[in-house]
Amino acid sequence: MREEILNLLGNQQGEYVSGESISHSLNISRAAVWKQIQGLKEAGYEIEAQTKKGYCLVKAPASLDEWALKQELKTGYLGKTLRLFEELPSTNDWCKDLVRQGEESGTVVIAKRQTVGRGRMQRAWQSPTGGLWMSVLLKPKLNLADAAKLTLSTGVALARAIHTLYGLEAGIKWPNDLVYQGKKIAGILGEVVGEWNSVQTLILGIGVNADFEIQDLSPELPATTLRTILGHEINLNQLAAEILRQLEHEVQALEQGDVAGLKERWTTCAVGIGHAVEIERAGEKFAGVFHGINENGELILDYDGREQAFSSGEVRLRYNAGQYSP
Ligand code: BTN
Repeated sequence: MREEILNLLGNQQGEYVSGESISHSLNISRAAVWKQIQGLKEAGYEIEAQTKKGYCLVKAPASLDEWALKQELKTGYLGKTLRLFEELPSTNDWCKDLVRQGEESGTVVIAKRQTVGRGRMQRAWQSPTGGLWMSVLLKPKLNLADAAKLTLSTGVALARAIHTLYGLEAGIKWPNDLVYQGKKIAGILGEVVGEWNSVQTLILGIGVNADFEIQDLSPELPATTLRTILGHEINLNQLAAEILRQLEHEVQALEQGDVAGLKERWTTCAVGIGHAVEIERAGEKFAGVFHGINENGELILDYDGREQAFSSGEVRLRYNAGQYSP
């Protein structure tokens, strides 16, 4: 019912639709229409009501809302099946259960807050209301080696989405943290469901510190939020839709074999290339100069005059030039 009313109002956004025509179209009483409209207003929809004229949808909410997100969505298949929750332990874990139930590729799970959000390297991920906590279920037409590059693609999609929407030059810190002035805005947790040696399902977990103040995160975290940086409200529906649009584009590029293009786009968004970094692998430290990534997505370190490749699963990267040191 809610969606049907929104469709009627949304089809004529900015214009008045009479209560009578809504009640007639949906076969409900005028009082029931009024009640639904009150519910929509409480959910953040700006709806004007005028006697004799009816109702006019002025603005959809900036907070997460399925109808509003779908209005913004400009993808072919990503997010066409959308599951939005008030709260979940972790959207990645929920997605894993969906995979076991045979869910199709492209499904997106979003939670307004997570109680047990997970980050890379078994870290906890703080997920207060106002963030974008989203997992994308993908069955890409890729071999495992290329499918693993999708976390890099996701980093590119995030950086580009934030640039497109806000003109903000956020950088990717290898492998796929999104940082601004050395502080983390977003992170990606890519997970594989199934056997490692067969092409299976990937879950791309995306966490963006978006529409909340930095005070909502523990002070010791080297993090920031889009709202803190930009000083205005962040429309989470718009943000989710733009990330999914960019991500779909990146997935298609990789499926068409454009690994070189991914490397180039990733490098354009990256921070720290040419800078001194320190890599930590199983307790051992390697100090050198960050030379970018190779076509496998591995970090290339100029170490003692020779190039050494490091893969993301096993290392920690620190560098000072970007003031980033988790
Ligand atoms: C990182 O450590 O940088 C990765 C953070 C990934 C967080 C996201 S939020 C949505 C999804 N669900 C989770 O539990 N984690 C990912």
